[in-house]
Amino acid sequence: MTAPLLRLSGVTAYYGAIQALKGVDLEVHQGEIVTLIGANGAGKSTLMMTICGTPRARDGRIEYDGTDITRLPTHEIMRRGLAQAPEGRRIFPRMSVQENLLMGAHGRTGPHAAASAEEVFALFPRLKERLEQRGGTLSGGEQQMLAIGRALMSRPRLLLLDEPSLGLAPLVVRQIFGAIRDLNRATGLTVLLVEQNAYQALRLANRGYVLVNGAITMAGGGAELLARPEIRAAYLEGGH
Ligand SMILES: Nc1ncnc2c1ncn2[C@@H]1O[C@H](COP(=O)(O)OP(=O)(O)OP(=O)(O)O)[C@@H](O)[C@H]1O
Ligand SMILES: [Mg+2]
Repeated sequence: MTAPLLRLSGVTAYYGAIQALKGVDLEVHQGEIVTLIGANGAGKSTLMMTICGTPRARDGRIEYDGTDITRLPTHEIMRRGLAQAPEGRRIFPRMSVQENLLMGAHGRTGPHAAASAEEVFALFPRLKERLEQRGGTLSGGEQQMLAIGRALMSRPRLLLLDEPSLGLAPLVVRQIFGAIRDLNRATGLTVLLVEQNAYQALRLANRGYVLVNGAITMAGGGAELLARPEIRAAYLEGGH
């Protein structure tokens, strides 16, 4: 088997004296969709941000595409083909849809940016109809599409998505998850997806990890994890 695109070994992270990650091992292979599920406060967002270098991993090692990126500055990490759609969308509310997208292009301009934008519009046609609208006035679902679209503007190899379904109606969640799947199939884009919506996430993903209190407690195929009674009890009760 080829080396994973992303490999975390024994990664810890702290906020002051509080340890948020307690020795995480995780791998994402080229072309996979991998999901990380876990309860509020488990450390999911911290894990995503640690991959990008803020906060820094204190122990352990993070490798991307065969290179040790553990101590690289965040902008250097992002330049290597990672892109993140952070939790809470973090779009620029006063900028137009078009300007928000360009912020994600990281200096790619002219025809390159235009070509990336066309790919984003193929995925989310609604954004094209709203190019001049201010980000802050988009609906929640449209803002999430914009956040994902912005991350895609740099043509990443690895897309980090932190709770894209948060606060969205089931129909919009299906649209967004459908778009992620289509993109993965069409372009081979590798995706690490953080979700509380465990049912949808495990159905979409090739593999999943469960994070409890800063440590991975379970790992396996998406379907395999979905079938486990302890997953059903902890993350799927009350329906989907
Ligand atoms: N900037 C910060 N300073 C101090 N503690 C933090 C900071 N950010 C997160 N934490 C703490 O680290 C722990 C993990 O938080 P994190 O945001 O990674 O959880 P999460 O799994 O993403 O949760 P959620 O599902 O609610 O988004 C929590 O106890 C949180 O309070
Ligand atoms: Mg979070």
